[in-house]
Amino acid sequence: MRRFLNLSDAGGDAVAAMLSDAIDRKTARAGWPKAKPDADAPLAGHVLAMVFEKNSTRTRASFDIAIRQLGGVPMIMDAGVTQLGRGETIADTARVLSRYADAIMIRTDDHAKAEELAEYASVPVINGLTDLSHPCQIVADLLTVVESGKALPGLELAWLGDGNNVLASLIEAAGLFGFHVRAGVPQGYEPEASFVEAARAKGSRIEVVRDAREAVAGADLVVTDTWVSMGQDHAHNKIAAMAPYQVDERLMAGAKKDAIFLHCLPAHRGDEVVDAVIDGAQSRVWDEAENRVHAQKSILLWALGKL
Ligand code: CP
Ligand code: NVA
Repeated sequence: MRRFLNLSDAGGDAVAAMLSDAIDRKTARAGWPKAKPDADAPLAGHVLAMVFEKNSTRTRASFDIAIRQLGGVPMIMDAGVTQLGRGETIADTARVLSRYADAIMIRTDDHAKAEELAEYASVPVINGLTDLSHPCQIVADLLTVVESGKALPGLELAWLGDGNNVLASLIEAAGLFGFHVRAGVPQGYEPEASFVEAARAKGSRIEVVRDAREAVAGADLVVTDTWVSMGQDHAHNKIAAMAPYQVDERLMAGAKKDAIFLHCLPAHRGDEVVDAVIDGAQSRVWDEAENRVHAQKSILLWALGKL
């Protein structure tokens, strides 16, 4: 039984296959109505259950459209209106949803809950974001980088701000694809050590620096995210610590001339990024958001053994 709780559950070859499949499918349906199934409808008759214990716009909408484009149907389970929200166990929820759905996506606060769901489910489980990681986002990010004409091996990625779940999965991807990460983060907000160690063990250069200009120097790709993730305290001392890492035009100018800017969204304009950057010529954030659909399709196909 396949699971996609982290990128390493699939491994580099499978993620590369997802990227290639996503590009082929995206190209083949260019200009089509958005919910029209792909010509081969490879998941016709399949159901994707989506469990949301946290808010979502992109993950929710893109998985919904993705399963329809593959010929299947979505089933959304918002925790607040299900028995899960009243204390039914993850294990029992996993057993029951496995009888209704062919795959389960979960967005939750505690990564251990996604692991527990995968343990008790008899269908593939996909991580749609936990406190630890956000692997589906990073498949879309890699797709956006490849589409921009940049090769992944040897790429220099600069991260600014909070060492969060998105950075953890980017670091994991660095290890799988041989690129390097220089993270400009304040003291106390470093990325998850186990992800850093795993990527270094595969030969990637993963650096944590305190100076934002040092982080972006020579970067091919500049990435940031909200300073306060869902479920975290909006602490004033955290915001103050993050302020020097705001991505503005001056900071962006320190990266390579042809560097691109990514942000998983939602953005907090005026905090981690200014309008001139997110709306500027180097920004690829809307392609990145669209690519969530194309990436989810290939993740689903891999999870169901069709890739
Ligand atoms: N990037 C992302 O996962 O967005 P949502 O929180 O809107 O799903
Ligand atoms: N780091 C953010 C990502 C949102 C898509 C969060 O966890 O809230």
